[in-house]
Amino acid sequence: MDKLVIHGGRRLQGEVSISGAKNAALPLLAAAILAPGKHVFHNVPRLRDIDTTLELLTTLGVEVDRSGLEHDHTLAVDTANLKSHLAPYELVKTMRASVLVLGPLLARTGQAEVSLPGGCAIGARPVNLHLKGMEQLGAEVQIEHGYIKAQADKLHGAEIAFDISTVTGTENVMMAAVKAEGRTVLQNAALEPEVVELAEALVKMGAKIKGQGTEVIEIEGVKELRPVEHAIMPDRIEAGTFLAAAAITGGELLLKGARADHLAAVIAKLREAGVAIEEKGGGLRVRGDGLRAVDVSTRPYPGFPTDMQAQLIALMCRAEGLSVITETVFENRFMHVLELERMGANIKIQGRSAIVTGVPKLSGASVMATDLRASASLVLAGLIAEGTTEVLRIYHLDRGYETLERKLQAVGAEIQRVKEQ
Ligand code: UD1
Repeated sequence: MDKLVIHGGRRLQGEVSISGAKNAALPLLAAAILAPGKHVFHNVPRLRDIDTTLELLTTLGVEVDRSGLEHDHTLAVDTANLKSHLAPYELVKTMRASVLVLGPLLARTGQAEVSLPGGCAIGARPVNLHLKGMEQLGAEVQIEHGYIKAQADKLHGAEIAFDISTVTGTENVMMAAVKAEGRTVLQNAALEPEVVELAEALVKMGAKIKGQGTEVIEIEGVKELRPVEHAIMPDRIEAGTFLAAAAITGGELLLKGARADHLAAVIAKLREAGVAIEEKGGGLRVRGDGLRAVDVSTRPYPGFPTDMQAQLIALMCRAEGLSVITETVFENRFMHVLELERMGANIKIQGRSAIVTGVPKLSGASVMATDLRASASLVLAGLIAEGTTEVLRIYHLDRGYETLERKLQAVGAEIQRVKEQ
């Protein structure tokens, strides 16, 4: 197992290229199942979650050509021949987003067996709304031996109102509905840019979708879809993490490809905290110079993303004053707090809020990553901690950040990946 060893105190300076968005790539790869044939995706990030998805697609019979992935982030998948409709536990347990094959398999083959994801480090993350949506489209859904078993001779359009805004739930049901007979209306649909990108790619495949990016998505089912060539949008959470890295180190970075329109809530909050951010040359220029405490509540898009909560807490550890950071999207998503406290942070948890009092310094320690974004917050803290920080269990980080340590090294951080003994 690898760990990251960081010697804190370096000011970051230079340029960082933002990779393709993990959370856009995963549903797009699942969507390829809907249209038999060869799909080509550009700007695919090289991540463990992508490897897991490709492994899953391979078990379903999809032919994967990853020869372009290493040198230019291009990936081809041929979905002409499927041989299975089963997503096994071994794969789903390592990545909940595997459940995204449910809708496409059901729409293409009339049946799907997908392991239930089970618990995860950031609290209960049920899929009940995915299943309810499939049932409303006419599928018969049962849970047997830990598996979701769904089947439908024919899917039909329906009026579906989501009780909670769910990103992958909206994506899954949308993918099933594009081939259902008749009209589907999704109410309280998720607004995330990744949902919009999926809808746009489906439209390129021949789907009839309107209203993506609003709370009401209308879909008119079609019989056939065709393969697509599509470039994946830049990762707004990776970009947000580098904004935070510049801010916490008092550095100056140009984030190439970062999109201000996808990061409005994050940029507004960081500006309030005293960070200078401007749009520049197809990206964002960020300069950190002292940090003020700010309060924030996570919300579905366009609100402040839960996937940036842990990184903001790391920042607030070094801000002047007291900040209250409230997590409203997931329960139990404060596991990084105990680790940050081991580095000298002053944080109290009260219900769903973390109350952070800025401290003059953090000190390096061995800390354990518990999930993807928690890992990022520990790396941020390590960048300014006195002495050496070791971040253990970085396989979480590798799920969602492409070569994070190399990108940080290139802008001046002293950070190394080493094999854990
Ligand atoms: C997606 C993102 C993840 C991000 C999250 C919230 C992907 C692959 N992952 O996860 O990075 O943190 O959105 O922005 O895109 N819920 C239910 N029942 C359901 C589905 C969800 O109760 O059937 C609840 C969840 O427990 C959670 C809330 O809805 O409290 C939002 O979760 P959701 O938007 O579904 O998150 P994911 O799609 O899993």
